[in-house]
Amino acid sequence: MTRIGKLQDATIHPIIGMDEPLHYRNKAQVPIGEKDGKLIAGFFKPRSHEIVETRESIIQHAKINEAVQVVKDIFSGLAIPAYNEQTHKGVLRHIMARYGKQTNELMVVLVTRTSSIPFVEKVVKEIVARLPHVKSIVQNINTKKTNVILGDSTQVLWGSEVIYDFIGDVKFAISAKSFYQVNPDQTKVLYEKALEYAELTGEETVIDAYCGIGTISLFLAQKAKKVFGVEIVPEAIEDARRNAELNNITNAEFAVGPAETVITDWYKEGNTADVLVVDPPRKGCDETLLHTIIEMKPKKVVYVSCNPGTLARDLRILEDGGYQTVEVQPVDMFPMTTHVECVSQIVLKNG
Ligand SMILES: C[S@@+](CC[C@H](N)C(=O)[O-])C[C@H]1O[C@@H](n2cnc3c(N)ncnc32)[C@H](O)[C@@H]1O
Repeated sequence: MTRIGKLQDATIHPIIGMDEPLHYRNKAQVPIGEKDGKLIAGFFKPRSHEIVETRESIIQHAKINEAVQVVKDIFSGLAIPAYNEQTHKGVLRHIMARYGKQTNELMVVLVTRTSSIPFVEKVVKEIVARLPHVKSIVQNINTKKTNVILGDSTQVLWGSEVIYDFIGDVKFAISAKSFYQVNPDQTKVLYEKALEYAELTGEETVIDAYCGIGTISLFLAQKAKKVFGVEIVPEAIEDARRNAELNNITNAEFAVGPAETVITDWYKEGNTADVLVVDPPRKGCDETLLHTIIEMKPKKVVYVSCNPGTLARDLRILEDGGYQTVEVQPVDMFPMTTHVECVSQIVLKNG
């Protein structure tokens, strides 16, 4: 913040760590291979396509580790072959598991090359018997020679299309393909900070740029008059609208498109906001958006960032445009990795 952002007066807080920084992840996508005639599940050796068998990942939730091993053993027991990248033959490519920690609901996604799975009824029956908290078993078919994990076609083999989870009081429906934070415990810590920095009284109009499936928008909608979320991926906006409905939140609206275009157009049509929240990808905010913010002059900007470098760069631009960074609070969302998330409060000088 000092070197890149040249920030003088901002308070940079120590990182908020996680009380129990292990077994926090709620999603795994594990490649499947074969060794000595048996299936193995694990990680790729760095810069290779060789799978190193891994029975436990200490950052995955125990229910996720268990699910991957159980499903792999079921396929192995029925001698259903793993996908082989070289020959483009075999069946099972990846096992994906998602877990709702607050609801104890498990989803298993079988990513296959083929549209049919041998002994599929037996596979399903055994998964249900051995993983009693499973609520959804889904097959995703990926016929392509690619290292992209999920293919285009998804079908429910058993149970529901979605599982549910909560961040704070907000309930989320999670499908095989939808984006959902991998560490909901720390996400709650981060969002509570964002909410604190927004200082909402119930009278404010808030814009949530880069809103994804609306997690921050729905969190803030509980305390704001109106929230407008903007996101470039249409499917994410569909999820956001569905999640608003699921929670009976009627004061959040969502628009699809690049934040820099949509919000700039809104502003040109005479619309403004009291608080603007941004949560951009690693490359940071588009410069057009930052200049629109500077012209629009919301009293407060809350910047959520997964890349401190681009955060510092963007804070400099806002400072040069009449804003002041008050606080930067890093939150460890991904313990045991080098990543850190930050939330920052920026206020309009003389605002
Ligand atoms: C770090 S994520 C934030 C997601 C969301 N706030 C959440 O916590 O679920 C960044 C999001 O910005 C979206 N995005 C990327 N470029 C964008 C753009 N130019 N305009 C709007 N959204 C964009 C991505 O699709 C992604 O959903």
